Amino acid sequence: MSRVFNFCSGPAALPLEVLQEAQATLPDYQGSGMSLMECSHRGKEYMAVQAEAIANIRELLQLPEDYAVLLLQGGASAQFAMIPLNLLTPGSVADYTRSGTWAIKAIKEAKVVGKVHIAADCGDEIPTRVPRLDELKLTPGAAYVHITSNETISGAQWKSFPKTEAPLVADMSSDILSRPLDVTQFGLIYAGAQKNLGPSGVTLVIIRKDLAERVPDTVPIFFRYKTHLAEDMYNTPPCFSIYILMLVTRWMKKMGLANLHKQNVAKAARLYAAIDNSSGFYKGTAIPSCRSDMNITFRLPSEDLETQFGKEASAAGLKQLPGHRSVGGLRASIYNAFPPEGVDALLAFMQEFQRKNG
Ligand SMILES: Cc1ncc(COP(=O)(O)O)c(C=O)c1O
Repeated sequence: MSRVFNFCSGPAALPLEVLQEAQATLPDYQGSGMSLMECSHRGKEYMAVQAEAIANIRELLQLPEDYAVLLLQGGASAQFAMIPLNLLTPGSVADYTRSGTWAIKAIKEAKVVGKVHIAADCGDEIPTRVPRLDELKLTPGAAYVHITSNETISGAQWKSFPKTEAPLVADMSSDILSRPLDVTQFGLIYAGAQKNLGPSGVTLVIIRKDLAERVPDTVPIFFRYKTHLAEDMYNTPPCFSIYILMLVTRWMKKMGLANLHKQNVAKAARLYAAIDNSSGFYKGTAIPSCRSDMNITFRLPSEDLETQFGKEASAAGLKQLPGHRSVGGLRASIYNAFPPEGVDALLAFMQEFQRKNG
């Protein structure tokens, strides 16, 4: 078996031991004679998996009782719609921070539902960044304040969060559980699983339970949070994705969130140091105070060199380094499960590439 270093922004690298465990249980899950994929979602095997997945998340984030954990479908994109459908009630306004591609998508969807106020706008700036806390212009009485905690494409990340009167809602798709978090600062957190939590197909939503009660009854039942908060499972969940998420969160508990955070900061710092010490050959695209620990974005002196870098890196087993198709450049996505040895390999490759082409 030969595993590459996978820098994909999502679906992203998973811990090898999780893949091996899933492989071992694939044809016969715990003596059931069936794969978990074939088990009823209301049977004891799957019910135990889902309960452990939720318990692991609760433990990792030390969630208080008044927060619920939902495992939904539709990706983070479905949450762009579900959040305003549930919380942006008629006559109210939601504050959104416009920090890049993902925030812009969230804003576009919210505008379909109701009134949106842009509380800060740095979405088109280069170098990229997220808003400073002191530039937020919040609406008194807003329904909620929406932020994108890590802009996966631009590589800019909130390092601390605003204290808001209105419930704070965060898209944490690309940095959920990469660092310790005080969830009580937030009304709602959501994240597609396919970066830090597991495979695609499941979306984590953490919601303060009282917020689920706001929903107008014009919203279809399926799209109400309170439908999914109810004890009984409303419909068939993405069982196998949740199984892998359960294994990933079990792995996270073993590693410890504080240790993973320390490792994440160290991995990112080494790459940023290499960029900063390259005499301008490599240029970071986010301003230093907002540099993401998850998505390290950088440019080379020309687009031709960037293409060459991506091709040669791929041939050397360093996969998926080209940046998002909308912005170009390069991007190393190094979520929790991305091993420090992969960063070593990229650093060596960068040094050699500069020596040959600088
Ligand atoms: C920050 C952020 N939000 C939202 C999305 C969209 O997620 P999904 O594809 O799960 O809808 C992504 C996907 O990369 C993302 O990085």
